Amino acid sequence: MINRYCLCAAAIALCAPVFGQEPIRFLADKKLWVLDTNTTSYVFGVNERNQLQHVYWGVRLWRDADLAAVRTSPEWASFDGVASTTPGEYAGWGSNMYTEPCLKVTLADGNRDLVLRYVSHQIQGDRLEVVTKDIQYDLFATVHYRVYPSAGIIEKHAVIENRTSQPITIESAQAGTWYVPPGDGYRLSYLNGRWAGETQLVQEDIHPGLKVLESRRGTTSHQTNPWFAIDAVEGDGARADEGRGRVWFGALGWSGSWRLTVEQTPHQQVRVTGGYNTFDFAYPLNPGERLETPPFYGGFTSNGFGEASRMLHRFTREFILPGGHSAKVRPVLYNSWEATEFNVDEPGQKALAEKAAKIGVERFVMDDGWFGARNDDHAGLGDWFVNPKKFPNGLQPLIRYVNSLDMDFGIWVEPEMVNPNSDLYRKHPDWVMNFPGRPRTEARNQLVLNMARDDVKEYTFEWLDKLVTENNIAFLKWDMNRNFSEPGWPEAGPASEKKIWVKYTSNLYEIIDRLRAKHPKLEIESCSGGGGRVDLGIMKRVDEVWTSDNTEAFDRLRIQEGFSYAYPAQGMMAWVTDVPNYNGRSTPLAYRFLVAMMGSLGIGNNLNKWTNDDYALATQMIAYYKTIRGTVQQGRLYRLFSPRLGELTANQYVSEDGKQSVLFAFLRGQQYGRPAPTIRLRGLDERGVYRVKPLDGSKLVEKLETASGAYLQSHGLNLALTGDYDGTSVLLERVE
Ligand code: GLA
Repeated sequence: MINRYCLCAAAIALCAPVFGQEPIRFLADKKLWVLDTNTTSYVFGVNERNQLQHVYWGVRLWRDADLAAVRTSPEWASFDGVASTTPGEYAGWGSNMYTEPCLKVTLADGNRDLVLRYVSHQIQGDRLEVVTKDIQYDLFATVHYRVYPSAGIIEKHAVIENRTSQPITIESAQAGTWYVPPGDGYRLSYLNGRWAGETQLVQEDIHPGLKVLESRRGTTSHQTNPWFAIDAVEGDGARADEGRGRVWFGALGWSGSWRLTVEQTPHQQVRVTGGYNTFDFAYPLNPGERLETPPFYGGFTSNGFGEASRMLHRFTREFILPGGHSAKVRPVLYNSWEATEFNVDEPGQKALAEKAAKIGVERFVMDDGWFGARNDDHAGLGDWFVNPKKFPNGLQPLIRYVNSLDMDFGIWVEPEMVNPNSDLYRKHPDWVMNFPGRPRTEARNQLVLNMARDDVKEYTFEWLDKLVTENNIAFLKWDMNRNFSEPGWPEAGPASEKKIWVKYTSNLYEIIDRLRAKHPKLEIESCSGGGGRVDLGIMKRVDEVWTSDNTEAFDRLRIQEGFSYAYPAQGMMAWVTDVPNYNGRSTPLAYRFLVAMMGSLGIGNNLNKWTNDDYALATQMIAYYKTIRGTVQQGRLYRLFSPRLGELTANQYVSEDGKQSVLFAFLRGQQYGRPAPTIRLRGLDERGVYRVKPLDGSKLVEKLETASGAYLQSHGLNLALTGDYDGTSVLLERVE
């Protein structure tokens, strides 16, 4: 059903939906929109100035009478007018506004004042579009909402349209602003890091002022991830924790330079505005042109960070990752990188493939080094033809061999990059981003191809399409091993060059979308030197992401914990690799397996060096993983003990149907012979009875065969974890 309104028609065109039936309702008498998910309500309206104003975001409301028509907030002296005190839902920068705007423009005639007013709206099922327009110019900002009732998530983005007769330049285009209820005492959580140390959870109190979380790098970045959560301190001083407390959270779906501002105004409004990074941003729109912002997804729960993560996991699995509900569990893969680096050839890869197949691997992936003159990272990137010395008969013999071992075949590509020492660069030096006559800064001896150029985009699509068409390739590991530098695009002309920040990423998305449309069975992993491109924008187009180049198992506990705040295990690649690894640390092989089994399992070891015992252990672990991976990848996660807070780390996963649960526990180091803390489980049915199946019976202190949910959640499990870097897993199967 489409409900269409405009100002004059608003009073008449109502079809009065019954409460609870429609996810989006317009209360015409109060000029309010109510966006309901199964658990939350989000409300905004049109105020007496005819501007969009935020009203409410929190637990689901069941009574429209609780909601009053909105009026602007009072000014505070002559210094904070209503433009700054009022929680604008999608505010242009104009009038005397001093808070972060959603849209800022300069018109060709020099005007920089933008005041957006409501024009009309349209409701179509779970989607709402609200058209706003400047008070004078035909400059339109249409704000789009989508409600995901089952996931508790709301999506917003905006489309800016120039219907004037003069060019305009957009200087800031944000998807929207989220508000938490007015007040003090909020805390911000976000994910920070660097290469080989991604997704470290940071928590800090929000104070007056503005905190910027951003990437200026042209890609999502290892340094900060476009996710946030804000929790409230309750009246009794209690903080939200894993199981309790109000948490508002959001994530941006964009893989280019992005920005989130977390702002506490002098009037106790905490607001988060997010979209394209405004740094070096200028997007010209000629008459008739439009710009769409990335989507910004948000949710609320009263049940703490654990539930906030589970909501995002379910949402991402069902509505973001390809396949949705019907996505299969991820295969166990083997990747050659850490074993052979650039020294790949047909016999060597075949030997690894044979060994991988024996331990139960389902997908064999050949990493870097198979193409051009790629013997190290100094040459060959860009020359995407099979190296004839390493593979004299092309890729077919290897792929056929891999397939004959009952595995599918994947291959590494880095389509956005070029080594200056390559045929491609010698032929097309103008294809990299650059400022003419200026240095071209290399990183890992490579430059960035300017994907914003349509000829580069077409060339890239064509060689990828050819590679996948001519070979039985099931999977691409799509890498990107550096960030932008000197982001010039001389061919676009000075007025349009800065469009590169948007066009690069939208062209990248287009290539992947076209490739997948043409090769529907093809799967893709997003890698950027580890977790440099992990966000809900790329996840719409790829089946999994490479979490970090750091595969050291103890470091991984924190990287994976941070990752789990925002993203599901289904997409989180985790490999078992050789030791010593980062930090010079050596952990037991079983520990490494257990850590990697909390994601989508991969093996990256040099199998040529394994002992018979290693093979036996790996075979056992992979077989065990296959029995629990559905629950890990597609179930509900309960973080029971955090690696940030103590020696014990424990995570539990419960399948959606509640029939299976699996616990992983890790002890960093035992001291004074103390037993590891008791682990009380979560997410079980107290009245249910579960068969307790430890991976290693000797680790279970109380030798239980079955236990009730009440016992497991109240008494808990005691595990005999000893020494350093010990770990184990316990499987629970519901029997009654
Ligand atoms: C990046 C990736 C690695 C590997 C190398 C290959 O660093 O993150 O996994 O693929 O490139 O050069």
